[in-house]
Amino acid sequence: MEQKKAILTIDGKTIELPLIEGSEGERALDISKLRQETGLITFDPGYANTGSCKSEITFVDGENGILRYRGYPIEELAEHSSFIETAMLLIFGHLPSQTERAAFREMLSSQELLHEDLLHHFEGFPPYGQPMSILSAVINSFASYHPDLLDIQTEEEFRLAVAKIISKVRTISAFAYRKSLGRPFMYPDPNRSYCSNFLHMMFSVPYKEFEPTRAQIKALSLVLIVHADHEQNCSCSTVRMVGSSQANLFASIAAGICALWGRLHGGANAAVIEMLENISAGRMTVKDYLEKVKRREMRLMGFGHRVYKSFDPRAKILKKAAHKLLHDQDMTGDPLIEIAQELEAAALSDDFFIERKLYPNVDFYSGIILRTLGIPVNMFPVMFAIGRMPGWIAHWYEESRSGQKIHRPRQVYMGPPKRRYVPIEER
Ligand code: CMC
Repeated sequence: MEQKKAILTIDGKTIELPLIEGSEGERALDISKLRQETGLITFDPGYANTGSCKSEITFVDGENGILRYRGYPIEELAEHSSFIETAMLLIFGHLPSQTERAAFREMLSSQELLHEDLLHHFEGFPPYGQPMSILSAVINSFASYHPDLLDIQTEEEFRLAVAKIISKVRTISAFAYRKSLGRPFMYPDPNRSYCSNFLHMMFSVPYKEFEPTRAQIKALSLVLIVHADHEQNCSCSTVRMVGSSQANLFASIAAGICALWGRLHGGANAAVIEMLENISAGRMTVKDYLEKVKRREMRLMGFGHRVYKSFDPRAKILKKAAHKLLHDQDMTGDPLIEIAQELEAAALSDDFFIERKLYPNVDFYSGIILRTLGIPVNMFPVMFAIGRMPGWIAHWYEESRSGQKIHRPRQVYMGPPKRRYVPIEER
C-alpha cells in the first residue's frame, strides 16, 4: 500500500511529510526530517499537538472518553482486576497467569522492607516535611543503595528493580506520614495484600493492628488502578525525557514524582478538597466560586483535561466508588460530596464550561475517597504517585528499549541579539 504523505510548500520549495498511523487510527505527520530539509522547526508550546514517541502501553481517546491499558478498557480493569495485576499488565505487557502473579507477589513481599540505614533519611527531614519531597528523595537514593541496578540489562534485573519500587514505595509513603505525626514506623506485614499492607503501615499502632474493611481495600485498589497510567502526561513525559539520557530507573522515577507534584497535575486532588472545604466552611458559595472561576481569578480544580474533551472515564468510575464507600462507611451525609455534586451539576450546565468542554477529571472524586479512607490531604499526591508507578516504569522501559534519540526540543529564541560585554564600571 502506498504510504500517505502531506505536502508542505515553503519559500518555493516543496517537501513531503510522511503520515504515520497508530493501531487505533490516530494519524500523525512525521516531521523528523523537517529541519534538515527546510531549516524550519515546529512551534507547539505545551506540546499539545506533538507526538513525542510511539507507544504500545496506553490508549486514550479524549473525544470519546476512552482509556485502555494494553488494550483493556479501564472499566473492565476497575471491575475485575487488582492493582498488582494491573501493574503487571502495564509493565510486562500481558495479564499475568496465576503462577506469574503469585511469583510476583512473593517478590513484592520480599522487597517490602527498607534498608535500615535508609530509615535515617526520614530523621533528616523536619516533622512538617512534605511527603512528596521525602518520597522523591528516598526513591532517588535507591540508586545509591542498589548500584547493581543502575544499568539494567537483563529481564531479571528489571523485574527486581520493578519489585523494589512497587513494593517499597508504599513503605516509604507510609513512613513519611508516620514521621510527620512523630509516630513509630509500622513495619510491613507480608501476610497482607498490597492495599491492606499500606493501610496497616499508615494506621496501625503498636499493639493495635488496623484491619481495613473489604470496602476500604477495594476503594483504595480502584484509586490506584485508575491512576496507573495515562500515556504522555507531564510526569510520564518527564520520566521518558530523563530516561532518554540513559539515566537510571530510580532517578527517572524520582523526577516523575517531582513533575507530578504541581497543582495542575497530581496536586489537583488536594486542591479539590481545599476548594470543597472552603465552600463547606461558608467562605464561599458554589455560585461565588464559579463566578470567580469565570473571572479567571481561580480554576475549578478537578475539572478540565488536556486530552478529554467529553468526559474522563476515570471520574465516572471514582464518582460511583465514592458514593459506595461513603454508604458502606455510613457517611452519606458528608457535606463535601454534596458540594462536589452541586458544583459539578452547576458547572456542567454553565456555558463557560460547556463551550470549553470542561468536565470533571480523575481528581474531582479521588480526594473524597482518600479523605474517607482517613488519608490526610498532604498525602494525596503521594497516593497518585503510588498509583502511577507502574505507568512510569513501563514508559521508562519502553523508552530505554526503543533506540530513540535523547529528548531535546528546540526553541524559538526571542532574547537580545548579539551585543558587547559592558565592564561593570560602565553600566
Ligand atoms: N477551570 C476553569 N477554566 C479552565 C479549567 C478549569 N479547571 N481548565 C481549563 N480552563 C479553561 C482555560 O482558562 C482556557 O480558557 P480560555 O481558552 O478562555 O483561556 C480553556 O479552558 C483551555 O484551558 P487550557 O489551560 O489551555 O487547557 P490545558 O489543556 O492546558 O489544561 C489542565 C489542562 C488540566 C491543566 C486544566 O484543565 C486545569 O488547570 N484543570 C484544573 C487542574 C486539574 O484538575 N488538574 C488535574 C488534571 S487530571 C489529572 C492529571 O493528569 O494530572
